[in-house]
Amino acid sequence: MTPSVGRPTPGEAGPRPTSSRDLADALTIEELAAVTSGGDFWSTQAVERWGIPSLTVTDGPHGLRKQAADPSTITLAGAVPATCFPTAVTLASSWNPDLLEEVGQALGSETRAEGVAVILGPGVNIQRHPLGGRNFEYLSEDPLVAGILGAALARGIQSRGVGCSVKHLACNNQETGRTTTSSDVDERTLREIYLAPFERIVRDARPWTVMTANNPVNGVYSSQHRELITSILRGEWGFDGLVLSDWGSVYDRVAALESGLDLEMPANAASDAAVLEALRESAFEPVVRESARRLIDLVERTRTALADPQPADFDAHHDLARRAAAAGTVLLRNEGVLPLDPSKDSRIAVLGLLAERPRYQGAGSSQVTPTRLDAPLDELRRLVDENVDIAYEPAYSLGDDTPGDASVLAAAVEVARSADTVIAFVGLPDDEEAEGVDRARFALPEQQLALLRALTAERTDVIVVLANGSPVDMSWSAAAGAVVETWLGGQAGGGAIVDVLLGIREPGGRLAQTLPLRVSDSPAHVGWPGEEGHARYGEGVFVGYRYYDTLERDVAYPFGHGLTYTSFTRSARAEVRADGGITATLSVRNIGDRAGRDVVQAYARHGAASVRRPVHELVGFAGVAVEPGAEETVRIEIDPRDLAHWSLAAGDWVVPRGPMVLELGASSRDIWATVELDLPGNGVRGPLTKFHTLNEWLADDRGEPVVRAALGVAAGDPLPGPLADPNVLKLVGTTTLVKFAHFGMGIDESALHRMLEDVPA
Ligand code: GLC
Repeated sequence: MTPSVGRPTPGEAGPRPTSSRDLADALTIEELAAVTSGGDFWSTQAVERWGIPSLTVTDGPHGLRKQAADPSTITLAGAVPATCFPTAVTLASSWNPDLLEEVGQALGSETRAEGVAVILGPGVNIQRHPLGGRNFEYLSEDPLVAGILGAALARGIQSRGVGCSVKHLACNNQETGRTTTSSDVDERTLREIYLAPFERIVRDARPWTVMTANNPVNGVYSSQHRELITSILRGEWGFDGLVLSDWGSVYDRVAALESGLDLEMPANAASDAAVLEALRESAFEPVVRESARRLIDLVERTRTALADPQPADFDAHHDLARRAAAAGTVLLRNEGVLPLDPSKDSRIAVLGLLAERPRYQGAGSSQVTPTRLDAPLDELRRLVDENVDIAYEPAYSLGDDTPGDASVLAAAVEVARSADTVIAFVGLPDDEEAEGVDRARFALPEQQLALLRALTAERTDVIVVLANGSPVDMSWSAAAGAVVETWLGGQAGGGAIVDVLLGIREPGGRLAQTLPLRVSDSPAHVGWPGEEGHARYGEGVFVGYRYYDTLERDVAYPFGHGLTYTSFTRSARAEVRADGGITATLSVRNIGDRAGRDVVQAYARHGAASVRRPVHELVGFAGVAVEPGAEETVRIEIDPRDLAHWSLAAGDWVVPRGPMVLELGASSRDIWATVELDLPGNGVRGPLTKFHTLNEWLADDRGEPVVRAALGVAAGDPLPGPLADPNVLKLVGTTTLVKFAHFGMGIDESALHRMLEDVPA
């Protein structure tokens, strides 16, 4: 190969350029081809002659999974021990950005301690359907919750000098056909629901890397999606970091680089030749130099941290993981049963294998090797008084769901009969929640349901503790005395649940997703999981509570729900800000006798939109910790953008002018105050063109005066000639203006021309 004039050649060295741009310009085209794919499974390519080191990147998202063995492949077991924090679904239930930032800092410290440049998380895809196989790795069904909490994680991680990777851009909402099935979604839905978390995180937390998804979006591979990567992510949101592919999702590296991707992962030397060939085209070369520059920027951003790894404090992180798990534990139901009194002379029946062998994380690339693991049974034994007798029975088996051994169930029921307190630990088995497959059923395993049936037939005060990464059928729950959803609580979750049961900590969680009555109630269910390579997002923006609440569907437990061990009274004020946003001021009084954290949720009920909007949308939230008898005040600031919908007509975010109602609630179904407001709007509207109908012109305050002027009638006067007849107007009013100009009814070509010039934008 003969390098073209002006291009660096391998022999040239000279002084090392100082800026990353100059360094990128000094790379040969062979080096450019090499650095745009990985060095092995978990690292980038070094360019030794310029001192550009190889960077290690590893999973994520709720703990570091650094393979101890062979980096040229993928193994799930035996990663270097790291703190397994609660999974995203648990963390998100805390609705607490400060806590997530703290967890992010700990993740960042462990990443740095291992000499890893980037941890592959947070995962911020929307939980579109309850059976999504990776829901446990994702934060919420709501884009505001996912965005605010994802930004907090990203900020925390990067505060330690290492990068995060926000994933997966975009619409990786199912595992079935995850590499082959196109997520087919209209632009409004894409922007309002699926891109919104990414947008917020990019703008607020400035992540150093973003990972594209495995799946195509609207028929285009995410790794090659120019509109997503170049126009929206970089162009509109100002992302200045590196875009890497999900593992094994680049089909054409040249096309991917041209579309804005910087790094194909893992290593793919096989495509270097194609990249080299394309690099001989002058138009392609600057694009690839930009990608190399972004890689060098990442090297520079992580250089200080990697030169000074600093050991992580695993004990402190275990304590944080325990606190975070309690904060994300959702008390769904409590008929006066919880908290337990640990000092009372009593007999507690602990039933269910999951009390002994906790389920605490999901399977797949996120699978961490924990530094330690707390089982609820051990922790309970440790924390109750000596005079409390704990009787444990496994009650069911895991893995095999054929009807269980009757004597195992009978032993559990026998223990339950004579106990003062009965706690049943149930949940999904490991193999039902794994990356790569969606869940096959909504219900808990049959042996566990048999246990719940038998216990609730005996008594009404059974405490049920759930461990699962995504919603399950809750039809049994009304018969329980209390239901505690821990999700997948990480390595310290076993201690956290005991803290909550004993009232040492409050159950801090609120649902970040709706628990539907039936899986078939899910708005995404009708086309789930797609067919012939397409998953049609036909429910549009009506995802989760946006659908259930708009259509007034009964649910098992609504979005935002979660009980505490105390109670609050609240009051609210709200006003429109000068910039068209809203400030809500809330006062929360704790009228119980325990400290507690209230989560105030603000929903917008839009009155004036020109498009169909959900009955309400979450636009802000705030957690407020209140001591017994005390009152605290908290503010929620809502930016105009959070009140906007995406208008296809305007190609922009529109905040309509007019009335709306701000609802303040303790869940999407428990609104305790409403405030009527009048929004100024942001003035953005779609243009009126000759392809709009006469009726559309007449209905528009910009168009009507122009039509009247053209027809020579004053405001309020009847339209001239046959147009005065409402039935004629109904008929011809549906005609586009350009065709109406041929009807000889008062507007001709030249009048049309003038109208188009006169109509305000
Ligand atoms: C996987 C996942 C992604 C992960 C990566 C590396 O296929 O989809 O989340 O970070 O590969 O393990």
